Amino acid sequence: MNLTTINFKPLGDARGSLVAIESDLGIPFPIRRVYYIFDTKTGVERGFHAHKKLQQIAVAVTGSCEMILDDGKEKESVCLDSSTKGLYIGPGFWRVMRNFTPDCVLLVLADRHYDESEYIRNYDEFLEWKKS
Ligand code: TYD
Repeated sequence: MNLTTINFKPLGDARGSLVAIESDLGIPFPIRRVYYIFDTKTGVERGFHAHKKLQQIAVAVTGSCEMILDDGKEKESVCLDSSTKGLYIGPGFWRVMRNFTPDCVLLVLADRHYDESEYIRNYDEFLEWKKS
């Protein structure tokens, strides 16, 4: 599976670090939504869905978690553990997030507003949709 990671340039100085992410600049889409997952309880697994249209970039700004992406044929696990590493997730990937550290804040940039109608939340339906 050919996954794309994006390395964000830390703008550091003696005071510390800063990462700036601008819509369409250095990332392949306009940002229309930002959300973050935090305070995830130990052992919780999230996700279990795919998107028909949505593009996203996920960054663990603190802590870490595992993102498992499944294109219907192969699965790949990516450890998100850096505030300067973004994982690009295009449409058509079933995703599961797990192994969240208690301090994990998973920031997600998305190119569309929230729209439940473009989610696929059933794995068999996802496999059927991939064939179509
Ligand atoms: P959900 O999709 O179940 O989270 P995950 O797949 O990451 O486990 O989302 C949890 C709830 O939040 C669900 O009721 C939908 C809602 N939600 C929004 O209202 N807007 C959003 O942008 C997102 C991502 C979720």
